[in-house]
Amino acid sequence: MNINLKKFVVIGNPIEHSLSPKLQNYWLKENKINGAYDKIKLQDNEIGSFIKDIKKQKIVGCNVTVPFKKKVIPFLDKLSPEAEQTQSVNTIIFDNGNLAGHNTDITGFEKAIKSLNFNMKSKKVLVLGAGGVVSSIVYALKNMHVSEIIISNRTRSKAENLKILFNNLKIVEWGNLPDFDVIINATSLGLNNEIINLDFSSARMNKLFYDVIYNPPETNFLKKGKELGHMIENGKKMFVYQASEAFKLWHQIEPEINSEIFKLLDND
Ligand code: ATR
Repeated sequence: MNINLKKFVVIGNPIEHSLSPKLQNYWLKENKINGAYDKIKLQDNEIGSFIKDIKKQKIVGCNVTVPFKKKVIPFLDKLSPEAEQTQSVNTIIFDNGNLAGHNTDITGFEKAIKSLNFNMKSKKVLVLGAGGVVSSIVYALKNMHVSEIIISNRTRSKAENLKILFNNLKIVEWGNLPDFDVIINATSLGLNNEIINLDFSSARMNKLFYDVIYNPPETNFLKKGKELGHMIENGKKMFVYQASEAFKLWHQIEPEINSEIFKLLDND
């Protein structure tokens, strides 16, 4: 047995299609780190015992995806300020006997937007959805000094809950389309070819249509945005950047992000 092997995992449900192992294992190899990164599917009632076992199993790092980003929190010893404010953890480090929860989705989103050379400052942003990733997106948007954040979610109470974490959020009923400069799809609509039932044709030119989904690479939402002449971007870069931030936290090494990486992820 390779006793010095550093173990990493991603937990979620579903987890079959997670690209994290492919990406993290590529970077481990590139950086000649003796480590292995696996995926584990968990049920809700298994989270507590799994997290406690991280200590026993000598897992050095763990990524957390849907639907556990909030559910892991009670089992951790400490949280970064960002994880605390968003109540969302996507990266865990086991360090000095302590389990620390971090949120790299925030930087992931910010870096993805920066790579587009899109200036979010003073923009009016409409976010569709209020699921696990939205608190991170709101945190990042506030960092980028947008002028207004409007949330629209099918279940209004979940959008209202975000107001407990953040000031100055505006909520509109699902089905309404207020004026916006940037629209972000953070719902799961589009993963399986669904259409979002909103009429985007009234949006004036040169808006940014952003979808957190990256598989498929062009959801119907992005297709529509493109057809109407807007700028579009999927969630692939956010995924890669959140992963690179996690890698940095675990290894203190900035992994290289190049076209190879995107090719590697496109091969699925
Ligand atoms: P979770 O809510 O467990 O965090 P998620 O995948 O992060 O899961 O979030 C799914 C998002 O897609 C939610 O905002 C969800 O809306 P609800 O809060 O009303 O469930 C949204 N969503 C999923 N299916 C939808 C549909 N058919 N119409 C509109 N919104 C939908």
